[in-house]
Amino acid sequence: MRKKIVAGNWKMNKTLQEGVALATELKDILAVEKPNCEVVIGTPFIHLATVSELLKDSVIAVSAQNCASKASGAYTGEVSAAMVKSTGAEYVILGHSERREYYNETPEILKEKVDLALENGLKIIFCIGESLAQREANEQEAVCKAELVGSVFHLSPEQWKNIVIAYEPIWAIGTGKTATADQAEEIHAYIRKCVAEVYGAEAAEDTTILYGGSCKASNAPELFAKPDIDGGLIGGASLKAPDFKGIIDAWK
Ligand code: PGA
Repeated sequence: MRKKIVAGNWKMNKTLQEGVALATELKDILAVEKPNCEVVIGTPFIHLATVSELLKDSVIAVSAQNCASKASGAYTGEVSAAMVKSTGAEYVILGHSERREYYNETPEILKEKVDLALENGLKIIFCIGESLAQREANEQEAVCKAELVGSVFHLSPEQWKNIVIAYEPIWAIGTGKTATADQAEEIHAYIRKCVAEVYGAEAAEDTTILYGGSCKASNAPELFAKPDIDGGLIGGASLKAPDFKGIIDAWK
């Protein structure tokens, strides 16, 4: 059975103190009421060590939101996959549309990041998804497939077990516009079919595919009820513990 996951992506929000307060609040809430899914929080780099230590014995796993495309060396300002791993973090989010768009992360660069993350024992939440113009031109399937082919479909079947896919239509991120549950299910099923073509039906069945883009407590139950939607990657609604908990509860 594939894993159900609700993952938070804090993006560039929260000072260290605010992040520690939020992680503590979540830890306390989920200690009382155990979640029915895996819970991950994606914090900024500087929070990783402190928050990983804080959540060591909790049900919450910690994720970075990026890592470098080089292993080590003279790359001022970069943070390597090995460094992320050394904080205690388990995951790294790669391929987010904001990084593709604002930091020019190409499929080739992302492929290097993917390889380094896996070499260093991290699991990856790999984001794919089309823009509004691409959706209007009905190119969403081609875009998603190309992003998979470009950065993750070279992996071995063994490596693939460490990949979680997040389908995030760019037009739904932070806009309040959610893909309808049917729209999301349609493309999730297509993504699973693409995975099956490369890794086989069983591996595709075991692959967790998350939906992301204005997911909140009010729409999560309908989205998560779909057979190919295995949880969510949550931006805005992961910044307040009760909002995030509301989405986790969609699995109840
Ligand atoms: P959002 O962001 O939930 O604020 O739309 C999702 C994401 O970008 O991961």
